[in-house]
Amino acid sequence: MSSSLSVSAVDIDHQQSWDDDVFPMVLQCDQDFPSLANVLTWVAANRKQLCAHAEKFGAVLFRGFSIADHNQFDKFVTAFEFENFPYDQSLSNAVRVNYTPRVFSANEAPADITIYLHHEMAQTPIYPSKLFFYCEDPADQGGATPICRSDKLLTEMVSRLPEFTASSERLGLKYSNVMPAANDAKSGMGRSWQSTFRAETQPQAEQRMTELGYSWQWLDDGCLRATTPVLPAIREVSGGRKTFFNQLIAAFKGWKDSRNDPSKSITFGDGTPLDRDTVLQVAEIAEELTYDLQWQAGDVALVDNMVAMHGRRTFSGTRKVLASLVATAD
Ligand code: FE2
Repeated sequence: MSSSLSVSAVDIDHQQSWDDDVFPMVLQCDQDFPSLANVLTWVAANRKQLCAHAEKFGAVLFRGFSIADHNQFDKFVTAFEFENFPYDQSLSNAVRVNYTPRVFSANEAPADITIYLHHEMAQTPIYPSKLFFYCEDPADQGGATPICRSDKLLTEMVSRLPEFTASSERLGLKYSNVMPAANDAKSGMGRSWQSTFRAETQPQAEQRMTELGYSWQWLDDGCLRATTPVLPAIREVSGGRKTFFNQLIAAFKGWKDSRNDPSKSITFGDGTPLDRDTVLQVAEIAEELTYDLQWQAGDVALVDNMVAMHGRRTFSGTRKVLASLVATAD
């Protein structure tokens, strides 16, 4: 790494390792209180290599870089020169609050709600290629961000659940969820259909869904059941690796609120329901492969959304973890 700053790759508690591979990669700034200018110069000088690390390792944790607030986090992200992936153009079902055009709250869902492992927006045709997380304020207890390598998950699935894995690859997946007619911040998936599809009226929402290949059904209470086109479940990433690019676990275990029944939220691409026990086995394997990122104030993590899933553990106290998304390159 070229140096305007002294940075080293370090080990971290419970870090995973396979051959020459660690998860996550951890880069520690060796100087006390580095200036923001030096940090940004270092990022700019090393951004290609850092990006390559994220692709290879799945996640890179930056510790000790003294990122003090959301404005500094915005500058840190900007120094990578990635194209922004704005929340208002996404089809995410989470309710979020923007702090800067690039930076928003990771999820407004209450502390006692678990956000299960997922690739960001894998349940929609438009998804970010990478994500940054920033911890301004860790929780008093809990609140880790679990992360899981999906290439490792897929390898396990091929040997332990060969039929299900083959069907996922052959048929793809379709996701369905009910969106409220107004944002519901009490739910981890409470984003309204108006906000999701950037529409004021039902015909406008229908036009956007048609463009995206969705099918839909309007419910009596003004809610919308929207179903995606068939989305590939297995994707190839750098190095010829394949990953299980999915929202399967989150959808089955977490897409539950007053409007949504998780068992109806996901099918194979031909409409065949998924076997519940098999999906729960996938979730178990993913949990075995999960690393819990325990936040310290000032930490930044860069997660390759094609390689690693993320989620959120429940917590107590205030927890301020912010996020920023990077557009897909192709
Ligand atoms: Fe997420």
